[in-house]
Amino acid sequence: MKDRNGPVVGIVPAAGRGVRLGEPLPKAFVELDGRTMLERSVEAMLASAVVDQVVIVAPPELAATSAAELVGEAFADRVRVVAGGAERADSVRAGLAAAPGARFVLVHDAARALTPPELFVRVVDALRAGCDAVIPVLPVADTIKSVDADGVVTGTPDRSTLRAVQTPQGFDVELLARANRDAADATDDAGLVERLGEQVATVAGDPLAFKITTPLDLVLARAVLASGLCTEKEM
Ligand code: CTP
Ligand code: MG
Repeated sequence: MKDRNGPVVGIVPAAGRGVRLGEPLPKAFVELDGRTMLERSVEAMLASAVVDQVVIVAPPELAATSAAELVGEAFADRVRVVAGGAERADSVRAGLAAAPGARFVLVHDAARALTPPELFVRVVDALRAGCDAVIPVLPVADTIKSVDADGVVTGTPDRSTLRAVQTPQGFDVELLARANRDAADATDDAGLVERLGEQVATVAGDPLAFKITTPLDLVLARAVLASGLCTEKEM
C-alpha cells in the first residue's frame, strides 16, 4: 500500500481563450468584483489549507508573468506558472510536468472561480481515505436526452442515475499521468481515468463551483458576489 500522506499539488488550467464568454481577455483573466477568476480560484485552493503548492497553467503569451503578479504577494511563494497547450488535456499535461514530488493532484478549472474552500477539503479527504480518483458531483435538475445527428431523440436516461460533474477533481498523481499521457483532448480528466478501467469515486459538489462559461454565467457570478451569498475573505 502506498502512503497516502504525501503532498497535494493543485493544477489550475487557465490557458483557454474563453470563446463562449466572448470577452477580449482570456477567460481566467476576466475580473469579478476587482479580482480575476484565476486569483479567486487559486486563493480558494490555498485557503482550504489542504493544497501545498499550485501550478497555474497560463496562456503561452502570459506564462512569463510572475506568480506575484497573477495572484498577489501573499500566495506567490506557493505558486508557479507554466505555459498551457492548444487543448485542455495538453494544459493538464504541462501542469503535471511541473508538479514533481506530488502524491496527489487536484485539477481545478480557473473558470470555477467561486468554488468554496470546503470543496477542496472534501476531495482531499476522500483521496487520503483511499480513493485514487475523486470528483465532485451534483444531481441534474433538467431531464437529459440523447439525440442523433439530426437532433431526433434516441433516449431518456433515468435522471436519478445522472450527475453533473465539477472540479476540483482529485487523483493519485501517477494514475492521472498515465490516463492523460496519450489524451488528445478531455474536458473531464476523470473520463480518461475511466477509460483505463479504474474506479472514480464521487463526493458532494457545491452549486457555487459552477463553471463560468457564457455571458449569463458571468452575470450570475457577479450577482452572487454582490449578494454576499459567497462569503468573502478580504485579502
Ligand atoms: N483550458 C486550458 N487550456 C486549454 C483549454 C482550456 O487550460 N487549451 C482551461 C480553461 O482556461 C478553463 C478550463 O480549462 O479554466 C475549462 O475550460 P473551458 O471552460 O472550456 O474554458 P475555455 O476553453 O477558455 O472556454 P471556451 O471553450 O469557451 O473557449
Ligand atoms: Mg474550452
